[in-house]
Amino acid sequence: MITDVISALDLDRKSVELILNEAESMRNQLYGKRCLHIADEKIVITVFLEPSTRTRLSFQFAATYLGAKAIDFGTTEISSIQKGETFEDTIRMVDGYEPDAIVLRQSVPGNAKRAAEISAAPVINAGDGANEHPTQALTDMYTIKREIGRVNGLTIGLMGDLKHGRTVSSLSYMLDKFDENTVIYIAPDELQVSNEVVSKLKNLKYKKSDRVDGVMEDLDVLYVTRIQKERFIDNAEYERLKGSYIINRDFLEKFKRRPIIMHPLPRIDELASDVDNMKEAKYFEQAKNGVYVRMALLKEIMNL
Ligand code: NCD
Repeated sequence: MITDVISALDLDRKSVELILNEAESMRNQLYGKRCLHIADEKIVITVFLEPSTRTRLSFQFAATYLGAKAIDFGTTEISSIQKGETFEDTIRMVDGYEPDAIVLRQSVPGNAKRAAEISAAPVINAGDGANEHPTQALTDMYTIKREIGRVNGLTIGLMGDLKHGRTVSSLSYMLDKFDENTVIYIAPDELQVSNEVVSKLKNLKYKKSDRVDGVMEDLDVLYVTRIQKERFIDNAEYERLKGSYIINRDFLEKFKRRPIIMHPLPRIDELASDVDNMKEAKYFEQAKNGVYVRMALLKEIMNL
């Protein structure tokens, strides 16, 4: 049984496989329909205290497609957080209305765990600062499985702001559960993956590189990420590093063997729009896949 989903580390390989299979089943069952009516009495609340488009909307669509009601907490500007209400009180309040699941995004690493301790309803971490984003990682795994047919024996380049990117840590932990995967962390030194993340890896082989050219033809997947401007303390450092890598069509066409291109989105200028209609571009499918994965996860977490 899956209860709270706080970290990708909490899910075992069996649970991940279950969600990936269930996501495919959700996609098939939903085909040609607007609602599955398997969660008609349920209520899901999305509490997003940091900006989001895809994660918030895909959870709301997922809940609605299952038949549940999706309630949104609203922005921090219109809530009592603006008046100084604490995080703990906010969660206690929300939980008091008895939702069947709370989907939470906020900026403090570890506060998703704190919310799960306070609330009776299961909590899904939809991003806690620079820490983790487990449901994005499930979406990424599902996309890799659909596009390549497997989630083991792969070489995956994770590129961009690996220091602040929460999708990078969660995806690394997911890949670590399967066999014979290799990750190449591609970033300038200042943005390389943290030792804290790699110290938690058991099975995954990895190397670091500051250039993408030399490793391109080894990759099955190139996973591009945005420089996380909002996490920089020093704006001058952000200005210096932004644009330090750009993937565009000209660059990709230099290689005979090309990986599929993924990105959790939003993109800024690290991934040019002239890649969008190349057959390797999978990031809009990836965003759509998030709905089926979140349907599967909500179904499991609500015991349906
Ligand atoms: C990511 C996030 O919020 O961490 N976006 C998402 O959920 N799809 C990546 C990002 O913001 O760069």
